[in-house]
Amino acid sequence: MKHTIEHIHAHEMLDSRGNPTIKVSILLKDGTVGSASVPSGASTGIHEALELRDENPKRYRGKGVLKAVRNVNERIAPIIRGKNVFEQRSIDDLMRLLDGTENKHKLGANAILGVSLACAHAGAKAKKMPLYQYIRAVYDLHYTNDRYTLPYPTMNIMNGGVHAGWAIDLQECMIIPQQKQFKERLRCGSEVFHALGGLLKKKGFSTLVGDEGGYAAKLKSNEEALKMIMQAITTAGYKPGRDVKLGMDPASSEFYNEKTDRYVMKADKKVLTAEGMIKMYQGWAKKYPLVMIEDGLAQDDWENWIKLTKVMGKMTTLVGDDLFVTNVERLQKGIEMHVGNALLVKVNQIGTLTEAIDAILLAQAHGYKINVSHRSGETEDTTIADLAVAVNAEHIKTGSLSRSERLAKYNRLLEIEEELA
Ligand code: PGA
Ligand code: ZN
Repeated sequence: MKHTIEHIHAHEMLDSRGNPTIKVSILLKDGTVGSASVPSGASTGIHEALELRDENPKRYRGKGVLKAVRNVNERIAPIIRGKNVFEQRSIDDLMRLLDGTENKHKLGANAILGVSLACAHAGAKAKKMPLYQYIRAVYDLHYTNDRYTLPYPTMNIMNGGVHAGWAIDLQECMIIPQQKQFKERLRCGSEVFHALGGLLKKKGFSTLVGDEGGYAAKLKSNEEALKMIMQAITTAGYKPGRDVKLGMDPASSEFYNEKTDRYVMKADKKVLTAEGMIKMYQGWAKKYPLVMIEDGLAQDDWENWIKLTKVMGKMTTLVGDDLFVTNVERLQKGIEMHVGNALLVKVNQIGTLTEAIDAILLAQAHGYKINVSHRSGETEDTTIADLAVAVNAEHIKTGSLSRSERLAKYNRLLEIEEELA
């Protein structure tokens, strides 16, 4: 058979932070090659699938991934070889079973995901389909009139938290351009980003960027980031609220202190309870066109998430990242408890494309919105752009308007929009 997998090869490469990650290539009998590389987080949720690292301090400060590479080449390859590449679901299932652990710690979610995504790329090429179309076909996904919609980008133009250690507590302050066409959303994002750079410079702040390409200025407070962004939107000639809305990912698990049950906002010199956090968000949502908050509360603070959803869920997109970790079980729990109303999708949080699709389908069946996301450590791989279009995701989150590993995804979406037109 032409479409059987003949050869699988993994190797170590470097991500956007200069840390090792894994790239997998798959060769089919007919000569088709598909490859994919795997991203890596910094503010990783404690419930994520395990990213296997060598922990050998003599190589890459312990961050090498040669064990994961070996797991692909020596353990996964023998069971996948000879399989029909179009049977993506059963290939992913086989790897999940071979690992046999809840969090994929034996083979490593990075090893498994590399193979899973490379299979999808090889399958798409073999069928001569663009990847977004192939993902729809291989999982038999159907949306109204079989239409494809382009996502609204949530662009992280101000970086803080663990992505820019010296700056504000809010990890990500995002703009969400509202234009009709994707290319106009991208243009708007770029213009606002550069306007913000100009304003920061004028006020004497640094215009260096953080891990996701947003400015990482040491502002005097968290709210100052929102004020500056509002000003940048106007300076760029857009109307806040109408043309550009705001989102944020405080990634609050990172500054939540479990012992004291408090959120420590260093830039504001404030220590807040969950109730205090909710009040703060409500205040911001009144003053600014803030329509999306991701991980507003800590990853296991279910009770307060219920309160947050009750008071803000009607007007605001409340996205679960570390909370749901692209995991069907955690999402199911959230749905039952009326927690959040949107799912952040990070394929490496769960470790296979199939499981990510299952989480997306569960979310969509319950009216939860989808935001397909990069990681703070990325590569030039653009799979998530195609995934977002394949599932008609309302949003994509792939960083700011600088750093090519971020722009590669936006540029892929431009290509897809052209193709669909
Ligand atoms: P991470 O951050 O990739 O470092 O986990 C992204 C996020 O929190 O959304
Ligand atoms: Zn997040």
